[in-house]
Amino acid sequence: MTALDIDFVRAQFPAFAEPSLQGQAFFENAGGSYTCRQVIDRLIRFYTQRKVQPYAPYEASRLGGEEMDKARARLAALMGVATDELSFGPSTTQNTYVLAQAFSKFMKPGEAIIVTNQDHEANSGPWRRLAEEGIEVREWQIDPQTGHLDTAQLENLLDEKVRLVCFPHCSNVVGEINPVAEITAMAHAAGAFVCVDGVSYAPHGLPNVDELGADIYLFSAYKTYGPHQGIMVIRKALGELLPNQAHYFNADSLYKRFTPAGPDHAQVAASAGMADYFEALAAHHGHAGTAAETGAFVHDLMRAHEVKLLQPLLDAVSDRNNVRLLGPSRAENRAPTVALSLNRAAEPVAAQLAEFGIMAGGGDFYAVRALDAMGIDPAEGVLRISFTHYTSEAEVAKLIEALDRVV
Ligand SMILES: Cc1ncc(COP(=O)(O)O)c(C=O)c1O
Repeated sequence: MTALDIDFVRAQFPAFAEPSLQGQAFFENAGGSYTCRQVIDRLIRFYTQRKVQPYAPYEASRLGGEEMDKARARLAALMGVATDELSFGPSTTQNTYVLAQAFSKFMKPGEAIIVTNQDHEANSGPWRRLAEEGIEVREWQIDPQTGHLDTAQLENLLDEKVRLVCFPHCSNVVGEINPVAEITAMAHAAGAFVCVDGVSYAPHGLPNVDELGADIYLFSAYKTYGPHQGIMVIRKALGELLPNQAHYFNADSLYKRFTPAGPDHAQVAASAGMADYFEALAAHHGHAGTAAETGAFVHDLMRAHEVKLLQPLLDAVSDRNNVRLLGPSRAENRAPTVALSLNRAAEPVAAQLAEFGIMAGGGDFYAVRALDAMGIDPAEGVLRISFTHYTSEAEVAKLIEALDRVV
């Protein structure tokens, strides 16, 4: 496998050349990533040249609409799904609320859903509220020590009443990569659909949703080098079954069915810049192929770089007895989203790290249920260090040195 050309990568992100950010290494990427220049360029172009109502028969409008359509088509192709199966909403949280609304009409009282206590609240709370409609909510619980979700436990929760299983591809505090294809196959065998929160996974390489088999796959563009949008993949078979949540006359359009509000035209159009970036990355590293092959190539390229940088950090933190590392200590099994429980409030520690040029955060990161389950006071929270493929070896070394001083 070709090694990632980190200089090329960083040249695609204006933040790395921004004078006010010099000397500061960014380690809160799970909160929101830097934006690639392809997205910024498209956003500026849309606001300066195409800021008219799209899909009308004059040139600026036609171009605006075309860019919005291209964004969906190109991202869908990278993820191995049809264009109509990908849609945009204001955020992943908003998207799950709309989907939960659809399921509340689709399901009958007495039927069941499964949620986890590993998830960010976005893929948990909206579904749990279905209890108010008479839906039985079953919780797939993590191991209190490790934060691990055991598929054997899921087997015990599945039966013919379950219509939906909601779980994360990767938790934003535990970091462990869950076996989505295996979990999905188990749910399908029991007659249930799955809704996968991919927000903490997608920035580390877009998955091929067709290969995973997931019925719904959600992620947030603003954590994946793009603008502030939530992106939903809803496979056709399920999308056509669920009741329409949009205007009645849009019911026949799969990509409009679960986006009741008008789209943010400029941000949808700018999302094509994410595809530009992934394609530029593939081309720069000598890859040519179909969109799905390009998606897979970029995924593996990013992952290999991240795994290489992550192991020394995991080794450094798991050696300490005053730090509890959440999730696996082997880099292959996790995303580079590393939460540390310190037995004291985490945010002041993040503030100390800032003095050493490290941008990181402390808190509960809306994973309150996961922290509670692992015996961590959400008010104290965890120190979270998260990076992506654009992070350099030197930045990780600087982080380890700063942690040595502060923790
Ligand atoms: C794992 C995970 N899921 C969902 C969300 C919610 O995403 P959004 O901010 O787009 O609603 C977040 C945001 O932090 C997250 O980390």
